[in-house]
Amino acid sequence: MESADEIIPVGVMLSGRGSNFEALLRKQCDGYFQRARIVCVVSDNPDARGLVTAKANGIPAYAIAPHAHPGKAAYENAVLQILLQHGVSLVVLAGYMRIVGRVLLDHFPGRILNIHPSLLPSFPGLHAQRQAIEHGVRFSGCTVHFVDAGMDTGPIIGQRVVPVLPDDTEDTLSERILAQEHELYAECLKRVTEEPYEIRGRTVCFGPQRRGDRA
Ligand code: GRF
Repeated sequence: MESADEIIPVGVMLSGRGSNFEALLRKQCDGYFQRARIVCVVSDNPDARGLVTAKANGIPAYAIAPHAHPGKAAYENAVLQILLQHGVSLVVLAGYMRIVGRVLLDHFPGRILNIHPSLLPSFPGLHAQRQAIEHGVRFSGCTVHFVDAGMDTGPIIGQRVVPVLPDDTEDTLSERILAQEHELYAECLKRVTEEPYEIRGRTVCFGPQRRGDRA
């Protein structure tokens, strides 16, 4: 963790609607974060609504088209240049619809967060809410985790449980999970930027007793 009063510049990556980004921004404006500051938004989709929200709120926003680059590394290098330009030290994926590759993972080891609309490790990948309904689970929810090279596989920072109701559709369940995502993401971003923690195996341990030491 950085020294006690240091501001931590956060770069947000998104591909679409950007409601999680909006929720984080609202919390930031309310003074909820002591150290995290969203300093830029980068999208792989020029039509992402999240870019409009960013600009309307005075946050520098950039669209980087993957297909305009000769490969994933070149694309991620272009993204990285923007993040570096803004001094980003923590990346928050907020509906970013690509697997993060080596360039960003190597530059931000253990410094990329993602949110997923299920209780991981159940239902990774696309249409997590539909997968939950089709599987017949009684509870689903959302997960914030550190990003590794896999799809939705990194160490878990926080989760919230949402019951699946008998008449839920993909839309109604998604809506209830999304409301919890907005709270959970802010809570987890606050914790990783304000509390000491370490990652032991797959477990993210917070707090002064995180090493399991006994007094
Ligand atoms: C959210 O459900 C998030 O969990 C998933 O993609 C969706 C993005 O929604 N990764 P939004 O763009 O933040 O509104």
